[in-house]
Amino acid sequence: MCLSIEVNDMATAVYPGSFDPVTLGHMDIIERTARMFDHVIIGVLQNNSKTPLFSVEERVNMIKSITSHLENIEVRSFDGLLVDFVHQCRADVIVRGLRAITDFEYELQMAQTNRVIAPEIDTIFLTTNLKYSYLSSSIVKEIAEYEGDISEFLHPVIAARVREKLEERRRLT
Ligand code: COA
Repeated sequence: MCLSIEVNDMATAVYPGSFDPVTLGHMDIIERTARMFDHVIIGVLQNNSKTPLFSVEERVNMIKSITSHLENIEVRSFDGLLVDFVHQCRADVIVRGLRAITDFEYELQMAQTNRVIAPEIDTIFLTTNLKYSYLSSSIVKEIAEYEGDISEFLHPVIAARVREKLEERRRLT
């Protein structure tokens, strides 16, 4: 027997993150999520413990520029608790990518905590494409700082923005 998922039951999903910058690993999750849900809201976290290279507006615009081919994607910034943002979006699903077993403990803790705070919101996990399972935004930024080749990890538009931003920062210091 084949169980089908009622798409109307889970029409809107939120994919949250810092996206500093958005990588091809994130894009893989975004494109797959866009195929599963009617509407996907990418939530770009404004303030967290990380010091971002890009402002939240820049991160939002960068994601918009490379997701314009996906009609059901919306990109918004948020601050504060993720579950509050999910409520504001009238969504009830959070999507997270799992890169490796090392992500699991943190992700489980986050999903379970969010579920205690907001039991009506579920978290689903997509395993990241193997090709990007080791990737993080920080690693990409570090490679770029040392003028290494980042074209394997970022969309060309984003790679150009990272190089520009680092150049801008070098000129200012
Ligand atoms: N491909 C490539 N890299 C990926 C990836 C993927 N599919 N998924 C994650 N990564 C990378 C990210 O780029 C990030 O790299 P970095 O640490 O170098 O910046 C790293 O893995 C961690 O990503 P993630 O776990 O998504 O962290 P985040 O900071 O991007 O987002 C939030 C975390 C926004 C979901 C979380 O902090 C949050 O919900 N904050 C709101 C406050 C809140 O509600 N707190 C209570 C939670 S219980």
